[in-house]
Amino acid sequence: MLFEKEIERVGYLSRSIPEGINLQEEIIRLKKEKNAVILAHYYVHADIQKLADHIGDSLALAQASKKAKHDIIVFCGVHFMAETAKILNPSKKVILPDLHAGCSLADSADEIAFQEFKNQHPNAVVVSYINCSARVKAMSDIICTSSNAVKVVESIPPDKEIIFAPDQNLGKYVEKVTGRKMHIWNGSCIVHVNISMDKLNALMQKHPEAELIAHPECLPEILEKAHFIGSTKSLLEYVQKPGVDSFIVATEAGILYKMRESVPGKTIIAAPAIESNSCACSECPYMKMNTLEKLYNALYYELPEINLAEDIMQGAEKALNNMLLIS
Ligand code: 13P
Ligand code: SF4
Repeated sequence: MLFEKEIERVGYLSRSIPEGINLQEEIIRLKKEKNAVILAHYYVHADIQKLADHIGDSLALAQASKKAKHDIIVFCGVHFMAETAKILNPSKKVILPDLHAGCSLADSADEIAFQEFKNQHPNAVVVSYINCSARVKAMSDIICTSSNAVKVVESIPPDKEIIFAPDQNLGKYVEKVTGRKMHIWNGSCIVHVNISMDKLNALMQKHPEAELIAHPECLPEILEKAHFIGSTKSLLEYVQKPGVDSFIVATEAGILYKMRESVPGKTIIAAPAIESNSCACSECPYMKMNTLEKLYNALYYELPEINLAEDIMQGAEKALNNMLLIS
């Protein structure tokens, strides 16, 4: 990974927490003392979501980062999200509790291979999903998230070729909705492609009353069966609709915490993973690297901090702002 040197430098952050302290209380105290704001994605552990000032999908968190007035933004999510916060609000100190918190999509596209891909389609407008590195963002014309990908692609004149990277499943979904043919990078999310179609079919037979709702990073065969497809935030909003009381949710299981909290009387079932883990659902190993202990240490030391080269910041900001203008 690109940030290995930084990981080495802040290695001591894993040191143990003083005995007898109440982590939640200490995090709230440090947050106030240091004028920090905690942003968290729906996929992180529930104990962190409970402490966060804002919880959201990638778009909402990017917007919240841009607006943040605090001195420090603590990003409980993954590396590309913290980079995005730094790009959109560069005067703030942005910290990520664990620098190892990457993303299989971002890792699928390094800048050299991506440049080669761009060279094959020199006239194409480059649309990159926000789940990519700051370097790849800087090589893109416009960024999109799962909540605005269709809108972003529809904003491009119909006579233009389009490169879409790095998620092939979101890309195929956007092609289907918009009818636009695109040059799609072949990355995928290890969590969403790990949802088992066979187990899902069995679950749907067992719960015929339940609606299947899915994130667009899922495989096309899952999306074909879904009643609703959307970003984490829109999936959360969808379960609140009256008249349906049971849902099978094909995305990372962290979102279930907020769903169950918002509709306590409804049945919310996680789509099953191919490889079973403790919850038999799909969990993102990177999002789950955010723990209360690391959050406490990150606030205490104000590390690990996200810093980026000026030229990368400028290029990536332009592509991100092109998205925010139409969102
Ligand atoms: P959302 O923008 O829908 O929250 O998706 C982020 C993500 O990483 C999905 O895997
Ligand atoms: Fe990346 Fe998938 Fe984890 Fe989202 S769930 S951060 S796309 S690996």
